[in-house]
Amino acid sequence: MPFISTHDTTFALQESETLLEGLERTGHEIEYQCRSGYCGSCRVKILSGRVSYDDFPLAFVAPGEILACCCRVSENIRIDCRKRTEEPDLFAPSLFDEDS
Ligand code: FES
Repeated sequence: MPFISTHDTTFALQESETLLEGLERTGHEIEYQCRSGYCGSCRVKILSGRVSYDDFPLAFVAPGEILACCCRVSENIRIDCRKRTEEPDLFAPSLFDEDS
């Protein structure tokens, strides 16, 4: 089971889970559209380690980038990704409390 390191954490990729699914499960900021290697939305920089692809993806991938939706991770990797930041709920009543 390979370990994925990001700027915020390290986690184990679960069996039969894609890198994209693992990043979503652990609360990372990652974009996606097709989830199958066509659009390139899930591109992320790989900082160390290597991945492979069962079928070479159709989306453009620059050197040093990987597609999180369709790459196969079989060794520990480090990627340039961060956890999602919480944005304030603009309708939360506590925002309007004058006591706080
Ligand atoms: S989500 Fe489209 S290439 Fe990964």
